[in-house]
Amino acid sequence: MNPHAEEIHGGIDYQEFRELGLHPKDVIDFSSNIMPFGPSPEVVRSLHELVIDRYPDRDGYELRCALAQHHAIGISRIMLGNGCSELIHLAAMSWIKPGMNVLVLGPTFSEYARASKISGGVCTEVSVFNSWSDSPTVAVLEYIQSQSPDVVWLCNPNNPTGHYLDTGQLESLFEAMPQIKFIVDESYLDFVQNGASLFCRCYPNLIVLRSMTKYYAMAGLRLGYLSCTESTMKLLMERRVPWSVNGAALIAGTAALNSLPYYRNAMEKLRQTNQSLTQALKRIGLQPSDSSTPFFLVPVDNGKRTREQLLKNRILVRDCHSFGLENMIRISTQTEALNEQLLLALRT
Ligand SMILES: Cc1ncc(COP(=O)(O)O)c(C=O)c1O
Repeated sequence: MNPHAEEIHGGIDYQEFRELGLHPKDVIDFSSNIMPFGPSPEVVRSLHELVIDRYPDRDGYELRCALAQHHAIGISRIMLGNGCSELIHLAAMSWIKPGMNVLVLGPTFSEYARASKISGGVCTEVSVFNSWSDSPTVAVLEYIQSQSPDVVWLCNPNNPTGHYLDTGQLESLFEAMPQIKFIVDESYLDFVQNGASLFCRCYPNLIVLRSMTKYYAMAGLRLGYLSCTESTMKLLMERRVPWSVNGAALIAGTAALNSLPYYRNAMEKLRQTNQSLTQALKRIGLQPSDSSTPFFLVPVDNGKRTREQLLKNRILVRDCHSFGLENMIRISTQTEALNEQLLLALRT
């Protein structure tokens, strides 16, 4: 029994694989939402410069400068983290006090509720994204206004549904309800065509989180970053773990920002393969949900069983029961050749 089983995420469960006699290399992973074309050659090359017998820059100055330029924002409003996951917990630790009412609009990434509860927040998890609606933003805004919680988590675009929220309307809400603190996770925003970021926006009641593990395909290195006002930054600095971002992640992060054309090109290819895959799934009688991202939900009889059956064919999909969606799987588009293998397995 895996003592960490409570924390259910996509990706490979190494213990499960060992028990099943599977080697991670032999399984095609459709369960993690990571750029399938891999990191840029510059990122790979940069790692040869890694010095491992020296502490990394605790403040990640060079990478923060590159991010400041990329997002047109002052460097003092940017903090790096050991993946967005670390920053989710740091934001919760800094803003959520015991007894505060915390609203998680879901189904969504489970760490928001987990981090809120660890900090003593009274967490309400509400499903607003269960069906694809023309206007998910309106549903979200209405719910927040009716509840008026102390803290709200928003995932934009949302994992696992791929809903994208209109940032203009969100900004009106930040202004209209300054008593509510908003933590917006933009980990998948770079996958959205014409997605608008709140990263450079400055509101005392806003923290924006981003991940570099997904779009830049560096999940193994662990790298995320956030923006907030300078006074919120003080709270975060008081609580953060020093040197949490390692030297490899710092070097690779800077190299990734120096190779944006590679990623833009990869994203263009991914958009095309995503379209071909969703069309092919429809041709075999499945109904992939509309999504603003290259990951999407697919209704099945039983998500857990479908995952198990596909794993026998060395294909891993995300069974969505932990999101409260028992009859859904989440699929992240891979390369064309790998998608063909998924289609073959699903047909049989
Ligand atoms: C919405 C969302 N935010 C954050 C994370 C974690 O990102 P990172 O790998 O940067 O810790 C995930 C991982 O699945 C996620 O789905």
